[in-house]
Amino acid sequence: MTSRYARIAGWGKYLPERIMRNAELEELVDTSDEWIRSRSGIVERRIAADHEATSDLGLRAAQEALHCAGVDASEVDLVLVATSTPDYAFFPPTASLIQEALGARNAGAFDMNAVCSGFVYALVTATQFVLSGACKNVLVIGAEVFTRILDWQDRTTCVLFGDGAGAVLLQPTDRPGGLLSSVLGSDGSGACHLLVPGGGSRNPASHQTVAAREHYLRMNGREVFRFAINRMPEAVATSLDRAGLRPSDLDLLIPHQANQRIIDWAAKRLELSEEAVFSNVARYGNTSAASVPVALCEAIDQGLVRPNAIIGMVAFGAGLTWASAIWQWNT
Ligand code: ACO
Repeated sequence: MTSRYARIAGWGKYLPERIMRNAELEELVDTSDEWIRSRSGIVERRIAADHEATSDLGLRAAQEALHCAGVDASEVDLVLVATSTPDYAFFPPTASLIQEALGARNAGAFDMNAVCSGFVYALVTATQFVLSGACKNVLVIGAEVFTRILDWQDRTTCVLFGDGAGAVLLQPTDRPGGLLSSVLGSDGSGACHLLVPGGGSRNPASHQTVAAREHYLRMNGREVFRFAINRMPEAVATSLDRAGLRPSDLDLLIPHQANQRIIDWAAKRLELSEEAVFSNVARYGNTSAASVPVALCEAIDQGLVRPNAIIGMVAFGAGLTWASAIWQWNT
């Protein structure tokens, strides 16, 4: 039996306790609070405790989402985790670790990696399981401990990222709305602009890769910036068009929280007011696949997502990838 619509029945987030302010970074690399604020809008970020890995953060967000929906873990059919910083480099999937820790004994589990676009990719994927009738309760989690792949000697990257997790529980419903349209994009010709060069099957971990610091993230910030300011608004406009809507129909845009300047550019291109675009990048930095679900949770908790609201979720990241989803709030 197929279902008519999907709805977000519950949501949750988890941010590690430890706050790292820009001033602390001034002690580590040649940077300044003023540079970081003016170039990125970031003021502080969260850092996972030594004992915390991605599954620990994802678990906390998932538990909150289940509690919010009033659903027992045993009722979950599928656990889908968007992450590019899994607990283990190759396997087991982080999703299986969360499934076990939740006690979701009837659920399948797998990871998806579209880096910062991962949560939007996962949300669109999970919605298909609900609409097809294959699943009744799907947990979609975006979780990252990005600070573990940062080179704390590289001022061009280490100031930009933080750790966190967000989750939603999807269910079928008769109430119209949910996913109205989406855009999932990729341009692998830009893979070189944002990557972790060592430790994978192309360049396996060795003394040399570690000595060359190749197990850390490397980024061509200018190229990624140029890509983001074009792709983000384009993806939103295309997905709105597919839903028969215009930017002025959007009640709230929840963009990937990478850089306030990128968010502002996108808002300007789409002619959206400041109030119509959610931002928390100042407090968390870029939490990659966790950024959109954490922002969604905060927007809901702040009363910014009203019944039948049209919300846009859009992200971009390594790949290069991008993803946009237009969602009508039918919860
Ligand atoms: N502190 C002080 N100076 C710095 C720092 C720092 N932390 N980082 C770079 N600089 C210097 C540079 O060395 C450069 O100096 P130079 O001109 O002498 O060479 C100068 O500041 C200007 O550097 P730019 O790279 O031109 O600075 P820009 O204004 O482009 O901002 C930034 C850099 C913030 C990285 C920007 O390019 C950006 O946000 N890019 C997109 C990054 C992004 O969003 N990545 C995440 C993608 S999502 C994912 O999948 C992980």
